Amino acid sequence: MDPSESALGGVETSDLHYGIANRTLLKSVDLSVGAGRSVAITGPSGCGKSTLLGLLAGLLKPTRGTVRIAGEDITSLAPGRRAALRLRSIGMIYQFGELLPELSPLENTALPALLAGVAREEAYARGTDLLEGLGVKNVLGTDTGALSGGERQRVAVARALIGQPQVVLADEPTGALDGKASTAVADLLFSLPARYGCALVVVTHNPQVAARADQVLTMADGRLAPADSAGVPR
Ligand SMILES: Nc1ncnc2c1ncn2[C@@H]1O[C@H](COP(=O)(O)OP(=O)(O)OP(=O)(O)O)[C@@H](O)[C@H]1O
Ligand SMILES: [Mg+2]
Repeated sequence: MDPSESALGGVETSDLHYGIANRTLLKSVDLSVGAGRSVAITGPSGCGKSTLLGLLAGLLKPTRGTVRIAGEDITSLAPGRRAALRLRSIGMIYQFGELLPELSPLENTALPALLAGVAREEAYARGTDLLEGLGVKNVLGTDTGALSGGERQRVAVARALIGQPQVVLADEPTGALDGKASTAVADLLFSLPARYGCALVVVTHNPQVAARADQVLTMADGRLAPADSAGVPR
């Protein structure tokens, strides 16, 4: 592919295939989300949405095809450089939070910034602001293990955003939230592309969340197709 075609600052896949345990989960997925743009991905449980995000983040290796993050092919990098690119450029909100129970909620939030070399005071200040903006300032005094599902999810959102990444990947970021909290998380996520020029990919079963993206795609039979916000192919 001509490198000049790559979505500068965003994420782009080309002919992405992924197979596991004799199943071909993804077949020739071409996804392009440019800087400042958002895409929602819907599709039935088990169709491969989390797998796709794992590939976009360089956590899984495709059977075939490439993933470019800000123009750089993450699939061909050595593990150390891949991890460095992920830390620098990608904010991942995992489907089940994946917080570290040994760390406090604020330490969990600040961790990517600390690993990237941001001073402790600055990282904690940014983390506190993010948690406050997400309506969970109360978690500052709670053990991570004692958080509710919705609090956990919002700490995971804050952790993904702390480094102002160029690519934000969110896996069911509102799955554990009630209407009000879900709207607050969606408000924050969908404000990011315009505010920071990042690319946003949101996997969601929630049509109200999907409707806020610039484009909605649905996954079926290992491929992505344009859809309405309820996930019905157009
Ligand atoms: N390591 C693995 N070994 C075998 N099968 C796997 C592995 N990882 C994922 N799968 C299977 O691949 C399929 C896709 O999983 P994935 O988690 O991507 O689905 P999903 O679309 O995110 O589903 P959900 O909406 O329930 O989160 C599932 O059937 C899952 O069981
Ligand atoms: Mg999933």
